[in-house]
Amino acid sequence: MEKDIQRILLSEEAIRRRVEEMGKLLTEEYAGKDPVVVGVLKGVVVFYSDMIRQIKVPCQMDFMWLSSYSGTNSTGELIVRRDVSVDIKDRHVLILEDIYDTGTSLDFTYRHLMAKGPASLKICTLLDKPERRKPGITLKPDYVGFTIPNEFVVGYGLDYNEHFRNLPYVGVLKPEAYQ
Ligand code: IMP
Ligand code: MG
Repeated sequence: MEKDIQRILLSEEAIRRRVEEMGKLLTEEYAGKDPVVVGVLKGVVVFYSDMIRQIKVPCQMDFMWLSSYSGTNSTGELIVRRDVSVDIKDRHVLILEDIYDTGTSLDFTYRHLMAKGPASLKICTLLDKPERRKPGITLKPDYVGFTIPNEFVVGYGLDYNEHFRNLPYVGVLKPEAYQ
């Protein structure tokens, strides 16, 4: 696994520090609001489990799972494979994501949850790759862990062909690993 990594972009230590920093801000933001923290599977799981323990207020955990609409992959159309199970109407909702890349998933998730009438809806993403943004997507995440260059990254939940999610850091894959 490690042999396929060209270089470490974000070390375990750097991620840990940033998650702690964001945790302090989110703890202030959500004091007394009993938020529902919604993770978008599967890439978010590692970030989610670290982040949620730094949000030191009463809150509820929930998850969504999206899929590309089969057969029409090229259109990038998404469907909800698993919806949230908590009723979020009039609740304060925080979306946790692994990466804001072209923006398709986050834009879709945001609209989907907004339609359920939350009291507030904010976004916290570990990574932001602004160079990849699709024209027309104007969402601004409220909290960004790290802004990264336009390179394909794996680890800390992020995958290539469902592998590498269990690396403890975020690394750039060697081109040879892309076969
Ligand atoms: P979107 O392009 O912003 O809709 O991102 C869709 C999904 O693609 C993300 O939630 C990630 O799971 C995945 N993704 C985007 N960029 C990367 C990357 O550099 N490495 C691994 N997965 C990525
Ligand atoms: Mg993925």
